[in-house]
Amino acid sequence: MDNIFSSIQTCAKRIKKAIDIKDIGYSNQENSSGETQLQLDIQCDMIIEKEFSKVASINTISSEEKEHTVALHEDGEYFISYDPLDGSSLVDVNLSVGSIFGIYKGGFGSQNMVAACYVVYGPRVEMVFAHNKVKLYLLQEGEFEYVKEIRLKEKGKLNAPGGTQQNWEPYHKEMVDSFFAEGYRLRYSGGMVPDLHQILLKGGGLFSYPATSDKPQGKLRKLFEVFPFAFVYEKAGGEAIDGKQRVLDLGHAHIHDTSPCFFGSKYEIARVKEVYAQHGS
Ligand code: AHG
Repeated sequence: MDNIFSSIQTCAKRIKKAIDIKDIGYSNQENSSGETQLQLDIQCDMIIEKEFSKVASINTISSEEKEHTVALHEDGEYFISYDPLDGSSLVDVNLSVGSIFGIYKGGFGSQNMVAACYVVYGPRVEMVFAHNKVKLYLLQEGEFEYVKEIRLKEKGKLNAPGGTQQNWEPYHKEMVDSFFAEGYRLRYSGGMVPDLHQILLKGGGLFSYPATSDKPQGKLRKLFEVFPFAFVYEKAGGEAIDGKQRVLDLGHAHIHDTSPCFFGSKYEIARVKEVYAQHGS
């Protein structure tokens, strides 16, 4: 695991450089979700694949930017799913973006997850690594320095509601509004990594990306986005559900499967469970 941790650090430093200097032109390729890939997405994906191919304990990788898994080392015990540059469309407006990694032992699947990590590229570069605990690191003078352990409070103050409101179910809108009526503040950048990072560091709140009429299975991908953050939130003392069920109890049929998802501290997730038990599918 130490090798993987340091390999992710190397990737993060290289990706930061790519973000800083790369022209943001569109490539002609589409990823498996049918989106035109940014040059930068592809570049970040290549950086990670190259670094991970040097780590003997990594058996297979899957990337949000690749249709299929890539076998690396037959004898390796770890399987890593990653989103090389989540929220990459925010780079050209200079908002924060991130990389997300889910680390599994013995095969891909929520039940096999043993660690998760994400990197936020903002005014500063920060890394959060969740294994037994959730630890925050800051890139300072070229090296990641340990800052502190992250723990969520029982109840937070921030509300980050994803998806197009027009396509929300009425009960979902009522639930989101109920938090605002209680004094919660809107914090939503459109980048999952900085939005969830903010809630974690500010002590708690709710990030939701529900099933919507245009996306009945949600938008965010299980392996590359939902499972890793579920692992981080649970280890930090919060919860992650799909409305009814714990996210880390969900299976997946395909590596690019998506799921509705709710991440938060205990208080907010209890409200989601209550509302979705009455209405949700
Ligand atoms: P992408 O993978 O296309 O960069 O999408 C980013 C994700 C995630 O980071 C964010 O939370 C979500 O899309 C935002 O989606 P909406 O704009 O639909 O709210």
